[in-house]
Amino acid sequence: MCIKIAVFMHCGTQSDLDITLFMAISIKTPDEIAKMRIAGQLASETLEMIGEHVRPGISTGELDRICHDHIVNVQKAIPAPLNYNGFPKSICTSLNHVICHGIPSDSKILKSGDILNIDVTVKKDGYHGDTRKMFLVGEVAPHARRLVQVTQECLYQAIDILKPGTTLGDIGHIIQRHAESNHYSVVREYCGHGIGAVFHDEPQVLHYGKPGTGLELREGMTFTIEPMINAGSRYTKLNKADGWTVTTKDRRLSAQWEHTLLITADGCEVLTRRSEESF
Ligand code: MF3
Ligand code: CO
Ligand code: CO
Repeated sequence: MCIKIAVFMHCGTQSDLDITLFMAISIKTPDEIAKMRIAGQLASETLEMIGEHVRPGISTGELDRICHDHIVNVQKAIPAPLNYNGFPKSICTSLNHVICHGIPSDSKILKSGDILNIDVTVKKDGYHGDTRKMFLVGEVAPHARRLVQVTQECLYQAIDILKPGTTLGDIGHIIQRHAESNHYSVVREYCGHGIGAVFHDEPQVLHYGKPGTGLELREGMTFTIEPMINAGSRYTKLNKADGWTVTTKDRRLSAQWEHTLLITADGCEVLTRRSEESF
């Protein structure tokens, strides 16, 4: 069982009104944290496993099958997206101008120059680990590589400031500052989220904001940060035909990186850390 704490947060508004919100946020117990560590490592290990398969000529449908089989048969775990609110596949594959929630398909074949996001969420022993990374397919143009790199820096800069007392506004601000100072834009319609036994829990973690505003982080909170950064304008478009695929409105490129994080006494633990990362 997790403990829910009550938090009050002051939200400055554009008028002179000062609104106080009340919200219940879960603080994980040591037993729950142990389970989140395992789920997180399984999710990151799936991303590590799939890397060698991401090359020109393979379909995103095939990448989905490989991840599904690995999660179910090797990890003895559950791919959380499958049937989640009707999502039809086990991972999300978001290619080039797709921002998020791309549906794997046998007819979507990777080609040199593509940038591909794979988003993996594994549920093990009742707890979730949620992470995504960008893959460069073949030879990728410098402008696209730069978007991918700056987006990863947005995530890393946010992770760097995490500790008890940091606010959600601090996280949003540091991401927005880095993206916009590189002339990119921050997607606003989709955000990070609390995570644990619930896949998408409170609080919402926005990737833009003002320092010192919003919820203050406390030891034992677990949530994701998942900046979606566009090369052009921030505006999004939802594909009405499939109900899932979110693209940039101007069809320019988008990149996204995600980690599941635990607030510790003096910083944070990256629960979905990959071995190539040195947090
Ligand atoms: N993994 C995604 C996230 O980062 C959510 C996937 S939505 C689903 O929150 F419907 F595909 F599961
Ligand atoms: Co997420
Ligand atoms: Co995710």
